[in-house]
Amino acid sequence: MSRTVLITGANGTVSTALAKALEGSDVNLRALVRDASKAEGLHATEVFVGDLDDARSLPPAFEGVQDVWLLTPNGPRAPENNMNAVWAARQAGAERIVRLSVVGAAHDAPNRSGRLHALSDQETKQSGMSWTILRPHWFMQNLLNEAGDIAATGTFSQNMASARLGMIDVRDIAEVAARVLLDDPDRHHGETYTLTGPRSLTFDDVAGQLSLALGRSVTHLPVSDDAKRKTLLGYGVPSWIVDMLEEYAQAYASGWGDFTTGTVTDLLNRPPRDIADFVRDHTPAFN
Ligand SMILES: NC(=O)c1ccc[n+]([C@@H]2O[C@H](COP(=O)([O-])OP(=O)(O)OC[C@H]3O[C@@H](n4cnc5c(N)ncnc54)[C@H](OP(=O)(O)O)[C@@H]3O)[C@@H](O)[C@H]2O)c1
Repeated sequence: MSRTVLITGANGTVSTALAKALEGSDVNLRALVRDASKAEGLHATEVFVGDLDDARSLPPAFEGVQDVWLLTPNGPRAPENNMNAVWAARQAGAERIVRLSVVGAAHDAPNRSGRLHALSDQETKQSGMSWTILRPHWFMQNLLNEAGDIAATGTFSQNMASARLGMIDVRDIAEVAARVLLDDPDRHHGETYTLTGPRSLTFDDVAGQLSLALGRSVTHLPVSDDAKRKTLLGYGVPSWIVDMLEEYAQAYASGWGDFTTGTVTDLLNRPPRDIADFVRDHTPAFN
């Protein structure tokens, strides 16, 4: 009988890619969304409405589920969201949790997101269910936030100086998650996989790749933390998120993200997508 996989954050960046990666496989794909109207177009067999902020909304979605893809949104309530999902999974008798964490998650990480994810990773490990934790590096898809500026001005701004990051294409995270979910639960139980792209890149490198793909000059403009903060607040980004991003930027500027791993290659038997692949496949977004 097919296993039922519950996808949390179903209409978000990573989970949308995961549902696509699971397309055609022998699983019953159940999506959890907060708003049914956002479920249109999702690659899912079933859609359940529930809110990770509200434990009482979750039991129907977890009923009959074997595998949970657990993605918590960024924010101060992330550990509560994880706790609510883990509890609902336990109550429903789920067998496995595959959890999306973050690069460098640790109780002493230099950023609040890393410290909050460490709490949820710990809880998940002690859930009594089979567990696998994915800790991906900075998403290449974050560059899509700069697409408007790149299209309009041929420039984009980052407050990470000459930081190098082992950035990863979300499609590779999704394919790793799908691999784990399609393998036997014992196969990856107890594993924490740190996922990166194939090389560590500066934003000048990224600008060079964008220039090549778009056939026009794209320039990276290093800016101060204060300038970036002002821009993000101006776009309406919540101050908690702005603070979090600044903590990451400072860590990355000091070299914290300058590494790659071979984990994607080990798990998928092929190298991860390069930045050149990402920009080629997203060219229309930057034009
Ligand atoms: N960006 C990076 O570089 C990076 C790197 C490593 C790890 N991460 C981790 O990736 C995660 C974010 O993934 P993403 O980029 O795919 O997220 P995303 O695109 O922002 O999507 C977040 C999803 O969570 C849902 N959601 C928000 N609040 C919810 C709630 N209370 N109950 C149920 N669902 C809720 C959203 O639904 P609505 O549409 O209803 O809001 C949406 O589907 C975070 O945990 C972050 O730490 C990010």
